[in-house]
Amino acid sequence: MAGATTDLAAARAAYDAFVARGLTLDLQRGQPSDADFDLSNGLLAALGPSDVTMDGLDLRNYPGGVAGLPSARALFGRYLGVDAANVVVWNNSSLELQGLVLTFALLHGVRGSQGGWVHERPKMIVTVPGYDRHFGMLTALGFELVVVDMRPDGPDVDAITALAASDPAIKGVLFVPTYSNPGGETISADAARRLAGMPTAAPDFTIFADDAYRAHALGEPDATVEFVGLCAEAGFPDRAFVFGSTSKVTFAGAGLGFVASSVANVAWLTGWLAAQSIGPNKVEQARHVRFLEAYPGGIDGLMRAHATLIAPKFAAVDEVLSAELGTDGAYATWTTPRGGYFSSLFTTAPVAARVVELAKAAGVVLTPAGATYPGGADPANRNIRIAPTRPPVAEVRTAMQVAAACIRLATAEYRTAQA
Ligand SMILES: Cc1ncc(COP(=O)(O)O)c(C=O)c1O
Repeated sequence: MAGATTDLAAARAAYDAFVARGLTLDLQRGQPSDADFDLSNGLLAALGPSDVTMDGLDLRNYPGGVAGLPSARALFGRYLGVDAANVVVWNNSSLELQGLVLTFALLHGVRGSQGGWVHERPKMIVTVPGYDRHFGMLTALGFELVVVDMRPDGPDVDAITALAASDPAIKGVLFVPTYSNPGGETISADAARRLAGMPTAAPDFTIFADDAYRAHALGEPDATVEFVGLCAEAGFPDRAFVFGSTSKVTFAGAGLGFVASSVANVAWLTGWLAAQSIGPNKVEQARHVRFLEAYPGGIDGLMRAHATLIAPKFAAVDEVLSAELGTDGAYATWTTPRGGYFSSLFTTAPVAARVVELAKAAGVVLTPAGATYPGGADPANRNIRIAPTRPPVAEVRTAMQVAAACIRLATAEYRTAQA
């Protein structure tokens, strides 16, 4: 008891010293830094005043269709490992494109559906910890969420297989296959193959793979999977939609979102898109093609330049947390991702909400506790998403020192109350 009180006093003193510094640091959302954006400033001048055509299409006029510029479909097809015919390149947000595909599925069903999913009280499997905007979008669209764990080698495929086999209202799974948000996990080839081929109660069970970080390696890249081909090989050619975007390649929210699927699904999707749009922004698509194809090493070269800027920030997170909290798990454990935009921290005691509250009072804004679970509620109150990409390394270091002090204090408070 006396020991716990001493720990608490020491932890409070260390925390108060940070509060006294009057810091204002923000590690809340996964955004590129200005230095990352600067790598792509050439995009703004990638088209000159006479560059008004590409692929024989006038970029200034409507004609061209809804699937996207042929050169853009080819570029992002290579990026996702599929043919241009398997790709739709849309506008500035892959999240919006996911919402469009899900909405069309709700209204009309996908290939193999009896009708719109909305009539079947549909459920969607999601991985936890996961991406808050996925949960928010699915909930807004009326899906009931069914959670499975994210594992070091991707979603818990045993759990998904059992759920999908037993309930025809489970219409699919939405997850991040490469350098997942928030843990940085990449699905293994074996797990991907199992998902592609598993028997399901719903004949129209669909894999929605949000491959937002496919090319976002921090060092030697992980092997990526290609779900469209895997599903075709497994005898379910229309099972997968794979989404990607350039939000963390060029400009966030001012790039391009795209999706890969079977040729039949591309026809299904473009059919519905054509009912509400004459076509996407071809000028934006053309300048991305020009800029990314001219960049030394192409998209891979640009991503290596991003990694040079971002990897030291993740190294700082790990170094500071290891130094301040030890690596024995007494206070917390955290992922050391090989790519992507986040690290996922688990406090050992159930104190995540208190840590975020203490950090805020010390001037450090972290992602709200619970955000990585549906409804914003982490049943164990242990997970905190760390988003170190936007601030400079020195600020990441300070913010992690504060976070560590908050974890020590919140843990000491908890253990004192339990004693
Ligand atoms: C997993 C994931 N998907 C999608 C997005 C957003 O992508 P976009 O800007 O293309 O809508 C993010 C942004 O943080 C993300 O982490």
